[in-house]
Amino acid sequence: MGTDPFQLFDEWFAKAQASEPSDPNAMALATTDSEKRPSVRIVLMKAHGPDGFVFYTNQHSRKGEELAHNPFAALLFHWKSLRRQVRVEGNVSLVSSEEADAYFATRSRDSQLGAWASSQSRALPSRAEFERRYDEMKAKFEDVEVPRPPHWGGYRVVPERIEFWSDRPHRLHERRLFTRGAGGWTESLLYP
Ligand SMILES: Cc1cc2nc3c(=O)[nH]c(=O)nc-3n(C[C@H](O)[C@H](O)[C@H](O)COP(=O)(O)O)c2cc1C
Repeated sequence: MGTDPFQLFDEWFAKAQASEPSDPNAMALATTDSEKRPSVRIVLMKAHGPDGFVFYTNQHSRKGEELAHNPFAALLFHWKSLRRQVRVEGNVSLVSSEEADAYFATRSRDSQLGAWASSQSRALPSRAEFERRYDEMKAKFEDVEVPRPPHWGGYRVVPERIEFWSDRPHRLHERRLFTRGAGGWTESLLYP
């Protein structure tokens, strides 16, 4: 009888929220390009549950382009002060435009304008150029609500594998692996 991995994730995440000094929702996101070369960066998890783990970004960014080639990703949470990590792997899909709109509306006006001003992952000739574009967007949307840019949205990593790693004395660490099959989730252990 396996535990529900999402219930376990909720317990661990609640503990991380209580103990991590900053960004307990920060997770490394690994993607691959068309030549199977991996790249990794940190993003913030903005929603999670049995449907998957959601983050928001620019779809024209390097990660966005890589996900368009290969919609499969790996995520990694490392909660240093708890000495724990969680690894998640699965297919990636775009969140609905309604869900992305709703989240975009909760962001500060400055970050909304930043989403318009930043051609994320593209070469930037100078910091001044970025500031100029930001001011341009500020003027463009003066006195109106800032709409979500069409190229800015959310991705949901739908896990088929979740591993919970916790530190144990003498490096006899615990690794609990949950894999999704036709009948639901199965739990097993891995050697550390
Ligand atoms: C703590 C932290 C949180 C971040 N959160 C996000 C995020 O939620 N979305 C995002 O697009 N970039 C986020 N970034 C920036 C990314 O790490 C990365 O620089 C950016 O998305 C461009 O990545 P790419 O060129 O591989 O697409 C964050 C960085 C840090 C250090």
